Order: sequence, then structure tokens, then C-alpha cells
Amino acid sequence: MEGQSILVGVGGGIAAYKSAALCSLLVKRGYDVQVLMTENATRFIQPLTLQALTKHPVIFDTFAEPNPSEIAHIAVADRALLYVIAPATANLIAKLAHGLADDMVTTTALAATCKTIVAPAMNVHMYDHPAVQHNLSILRSRGTIVLDPDEGPLACGYTGKGRLPEPEDIAEVIEAMLSEHRDLEGLHIVITAGPTIEDIDPVRYLSNRSSGKMGYALAKQAVARGAKVTLVSGPTHLSPVPGAKMMYVRSTEEMLSGVREAMREADVLIAAAAPADFRPAATFPQKWKKSQGAMQLEFVQTPDILATVSRQRNKGQTIVGFAAETNDVIRYGAEKLNEKGLDLIVINDVSQQGAGFDVDTNQVTLMTKSGGVSTLPLMAKSSVADRILSAVKQLREHGNGELMV
Ligand code: PMT
Repeated sequence: MEGQSILVGVGGGIAAYKSAALCSLLVKRGYDVQVLMTENATRFIQPLTLQALTKHPVIFDTFAEPNPSEIAHIAVADRALLYVIAPATANLIAKLAHGLADDMVTTTALAATCKTIVAPAMNVHMYDHPAVQHNLSILRSRGTIVLDPDEGPLACGYTGKGRLPEPEDIAEVIEAMLSEHRDLEGLHIVITAGPTIEDIDPVRYLSNRSSGKMGYALAKQAVARGAKVTLVSGPTHLSPVPGAKMMYVRSTEEMLSGVREAMREADVLIAAAAPADFRPAATFPQKWKKSQGAMQLEFVQTPDILATVSRQRNKGQTIVGFAAETNDVIRYGAEKLNEKGLDLIVINDVSQQGAGFDVDTNQVTLMTKSGGVSTLPLMAKSSVADRILSAVKQLREHGNGELMV
């Protein structure tokens, strides 16, 4: 969990004072806690209190941007292990349900891909209002964990359902959620991501459209689920994945040696990268001038990383490849699975809208060497990553068979 934090989002309700106890409990349990507040929340509890408890500045002004090298709401979202919004007011719940982002808490919620817990706290009639209940059902349908408020005397004088659950109870839910998902503990997974670059001369190169998003999503989910992760990355614009060991490479040859080194001690390889299949037979030492006339290039094949590592694998290692196809995708995918000696292949039709290169979603078919097939709908790359990791877990625990993901 190195470099990762639990985000605590505080809304502007009287129960905001309980966020101090929650932060204190989480810090005592060893978590790094980053607090985000709405401006209204700062009327109920001083940011300084929460800063003193968490040892991190509290962020409540979306435009303050104290660190010019990063965008605060994206950076904290990227580092989030889990996001708990407590207390969540009726207004905050409405904004979360409808994707509004006009404060630090909601803006970060849109950027965060981790699990989110929402703990409503408000007057009993407000809580029972159909609008609030509808908004909560929207959040639940998206996978947000909504905590039931406690019953009892409320600050407004009423007695009923609407109290923020006790901080101890919220902390219990957080612990349970984190341990529930640490199902890959003990596994060392090597993941490749991004393109590789093959130089033509000092200023020109050959590469492809891979952004690295698929491989980075796999690394992020694998870290969150407790795996030890080595991410062998070609050149991308993405931030390092907190908790993963980053190995940066440029060419396909370099990616091969990085993967070989990492696989000496690893259990699984997932090759989501799009390494260049060809490189110029020779690289010009100086820039090729237009005055020299047309450039003649001869291309030679680069090594096939996956096939090489699969051939030389240690006993018990699981090898997963991707297939980026544009036609007859299943047939070509199945051929790659066999030719490269893989345990599992993730086939994506990169000609489809929303799938493949440089988008946040993907649509894939998983196929095992014994013929188990599972076609998944178009979904976020983080969800695709989770399904792939579950398939790997299934293969390692139960061998080949029907895919249950
Ligand atoms: O990075 P993104 O923008 O998020 O895009 C994601 C993706 C489209 C790159 C990803 O989903 C994907 O399909 N990755 C594999 C791309 C690819 O190189 O496909 P391929 O069918 O050419 O190669 C088959 C497999 O062999 C892949 O696992 C590839 O990593 C591997 N390979 C390819 C060439 C090579 N020289 N060595 C290899 O190991």
C-alpha cells in the first residue's frame, strides 16, 4: 500500500465533527489518510483539526493547487486505495449521483477509480425524501457502498434514521472492504504496458498508438488486490502506479530484458503492451537530411517477448497475452494463444469504437488454453483489468476450465 491513501471526503453537516474520530482511528490502524472537504464542511470543523490528525494538509479549495507539478484532485484520486465520504449530505449525494463536480469532494469522486463508500447523515425527513432515496439508489447501482444511517436523536431535534454511523463502525467497513479485495496477496505479477519505440535516426522513430492505459489499469487493480506488481512500461504520459515497482524501457529488446529479469521471481506475466514488431535494420547515427534524398529503410523483426518468456518459463508461472485484432478476432486470438504457448489470452477488437488503443474503455474476450471462453461487454479498463485478474486467480487455483469471470 506504499504511496496509497484512504481519502476521507467531508460534507457540510453537523456530523462533520465525527470525521475527526474517523481519521484518528484510520491513522491509528496504520493507514495514510488524505482529507478532502467541501467549503461548507469547513464551517463545521476546522481543516487544521483534520490536518493535525492526518499530518497532511486538508484540501478544500479545488483551485488552490499547492503543488504545481500535479493537479490535486487527479493526483489524490490516483493514489486512492478507497474513498469514504462521511458525512454525505443530501446535496453532496445529489451531486455524486448526477456527476456534478463543483467542489473538491465531488471533483475527486469523478476522478477516482477506487471503491467508494458514502455515509449519509441528515434529518430523518430529508433522508426519507424520494429524491434522496432515488439518488442513493443511483449510487448503489454503480457499485458505491452506501452505509445505512443510525437511528437515534438527531441534531435538528427529531429522533429517527439519519445519524452518521459511529466512526468505529465506518472503520470496520473500510477494513473489511480492503481485506475482501486483497485476494492476490502472495502473487508477484509482471505487467507490460504501452508502446515501444524503435529509433530510425536521432530524431525519428517507429512506434504505435498504445497509451499504456490498459496495462496501468491492470497494475493499479493488482496492487489494490494485494499483489506485488512490477510494471514494465514503454514510454507513456501516465503517472507511475503507486505501490508498483516501475521499470521504464524504450525498445522491444529493452522490454524483453526487463520482463526476463522481473520474471526470475514472478508468478504471472500479463502482456498488455504493444511492442513494436519491427525495427530498422540499422539506426542512422545522424539525422537523415532531406538533401540526402529519399530514405530507404529495411526492417527486421524484433524478438517476440511473450513467446520467448513463455518458452523459457519456470515451473508454475502463468503467462497471459493480449491479441489486438481488427478482423476474425476470435480465430486470430486462438491462434496466438496456441502459437505463443499461453495460459490465457485477452482478445480485443481494436477496430471497435471504445475498445483498444488510447481510450478508457475496452471490450474483450478471454480465452484459456483449454477452450474456456468469456466475452465481456464494453467496460472501463479498470473493470476489464479486474476480470482478467480474477481469471488469472481462477486458473492458478483451479486449473483450466470454464471461465467464471
Ligand atoms: O495501451 P492502451 O492505449 O490502453 O491500449 C491497449 C492495447 C490495445 C494496447 C491492449 O489492449 C492490447 O491489445 N495489447 C496488445 C497489443 C499487441 O501488441 O497485440 P499483438 O496481437 O500484436 O500481440 C500479441 C501479444 O504479443 C501481446 O500480448 C503483445 O504484448 C505481445 N508481443 C507482441 C509483439 C512482440 N514483439 N512481443 C510481444 O510479446
